[in-house]
Amino acid sequence: MKKLLLLFVILILAACKNSENPINKSLSKLGPTADSAMVVSAREEASSIGLDILKKGGNAFDAMIATEMALAVTYPFAGNLGGGGFMVYRKANGETGSLDYREKAPLAAYKKMYQDEEGNVMPEKSMYGSLAVGVPGTVAGIFATHKKMGSMPIAEILEPVIDLARRGFIVTQKQSKTLANYRKLFLRENRDTILFAKSYQAGDTIKNLQLAKTLERIVQNGKEEFYGGETGKKLIAYLQERDGIMSMEDLLKYQTHWRDPITVKYKGLNIISMPPPSSGGIVLGQILKMLEPYPLDEFGHNSLKSIQVLTEAERRAYADRSFYLGDPDFVAIPVETLLSDAYLSGRMDNFSFEKATPSSSISYGEIPIYESDETTHYSIVDKYGNAVAVTTTLNGAYGSKMYIEELGFFLNNEMNDFSAKPGVPDMFGLVGAEANSIVAGKKMLSSMTPTIVEKNDELWMTLGSPGGSTIITSVLQTILNVEEFGMSMQEAVDAPRFHHQWLPDEVLLEPNAFDARLLDSLKLKGYHIDQNESRIIGKVDAIRILPDGRLEGGADRRGDDSAKGY
Ligand code: GLY
Repeated sequence: MKKLLLLFVILILAACKNSENPINKSLSKLGPTADSAMVVSAREEASSIGLDILKKGGNAFDAMIATEMALAVTYPFAGNLGGGGFMVYRKANGETGSLDYREKAPLAAYKKMYQDEEGNVMPEKSMYGSLAVGVPGTVAGIFATHKKMGSMPIAEILEPVIDLARRGFIVTQKQSKTLANYRKLFLRENRDTILFAKSYQAGDTIKNLQLAKTLERIVQNGKEEFYGGETGKKLIAYLQERDGIMSMEDLLKYQTHWRDPITVKYKGLNIISMPPPSSGGIVLGQILKMLEPYPLDEFGHNSLKSIQVLTEAERRAYADRSFYLGDPDFVAIPVETLLSDAYLSGRMDNFSFEKATPSSSISYGEIPIYESDETTHYSIVDKYGNAVAVTTTLNGAYGSKMYIEELGFFLNNEMNDFSAKPGVPDMFGLVGAEANSIVAGKKMLSSMTPTIVEKNDELWMTLGSPGGSTIITSVLQTILNVEEFGMSMQEAVDAPRFHHQWLPDEVLLEPNAFDARLLDSLKLKGYHIDQNESRIIGKVDAIRILPDGRLEGGADRRGDDSAKGY
């Protein structure tokens, strides 16, 4: 009786608490739930600003614009004006599509620009400083979205973001640590102190008045403010003073592309994801098709057999990625063949549960992939039934570390996603393929995998992740965790992950999350496991539609991520 009374009191207290916050943290294993609409992103303020737009009657695309810019204010680690990204959408009427606002190589870029006279790759050149910067696409991306899909005036959408930049945002514990980690590089690359190089403690407020002014000018003058106006002129002057090669012509010529998404069937699901220049949709689709014949639910989540079969499918799909994928406007990609049953059914023929397949025996030679991890993803569903999945990035943490104080934002180092020297390892032992070599005006290959999933042809899930090449496997495992292993959205996002990308021939597993006996069994079968390399894999932000129509958020426990709904 006492126990019952206690439970009753806990329930009442929980209900009171939840009445302040429209999201109802369920007492079951569900993540946060909401009746009408939801935004899940890397920062609480960004999710709140996106949600406020939805509450005002804006649609998911209006909220996308607000959330994207609010992340640029509060999460400069990856949120940006100086980077690029991809959006996959599904409208309430079932129409699907995608927007490519990826950065591109400046017109003065050329194949050997990161090689010295002897042909040795100089990796720092594509990671730091002015030569690392690709022509940014984000501002074009939000305006393309607004023109085609927006329902509210841009001034109204961006007003709370500008206000936030002016009022400031609160530094979190995790944020104070990453800012401290990068302080030296900020000072080195900018040859001066910058707003984000000051010493910040958790709880401090950062006001970005220059970014507020830049956003105000963008509201006033539209996309052209960035691609030719005062902001563009300042950006180009900043880069050229630092030996950069980007010109005003690059900004004037920048274009976004609406592209047909990659759509793949996996059992009863339609997986709708990003086409090239992201590898995300094709690689995710290939892995799922190779997995389809195996009873994963019987094998069990993160069991020996599940890990083996996922690893082997990943190995084969990433081998194809390295050889075939690049910017579709520059290279011919055999998309249909790569995703066809005829091709994929033969790919697992040489796999046996007895023994790992060495990557050297999988075709297309020793061609590993290098991409860095620092990207961000957000998912939005509005009350009308529209859904978006958006992944946006500066590439490395704070991109090239170059920060234009006058404009209030960092510039990307996306040029590092190209292969600096196709076929030859760089100083990290990493190489790429011809399909992703540097050409003026070409977009560098990405792994970003914003994805929408339909079940029985109805909207079921929207998700994505940061994490460079591990993005694809993070999205894959999150979908499988719900579909095959019966997890809630939040559990699926939080569950420990592992990753294989063909080369290096290694299974990467998250720290302290896998049983030692399981690791021994994998090693006995010939899988290479380097626990020293163990690190967090992905940071998934997702929304699922529950059978009763409510929305369940999955905000990754690995970051400061937050689900807001009503
Ligand atoms: N910069 C990471 C990616 O595009 O995959």
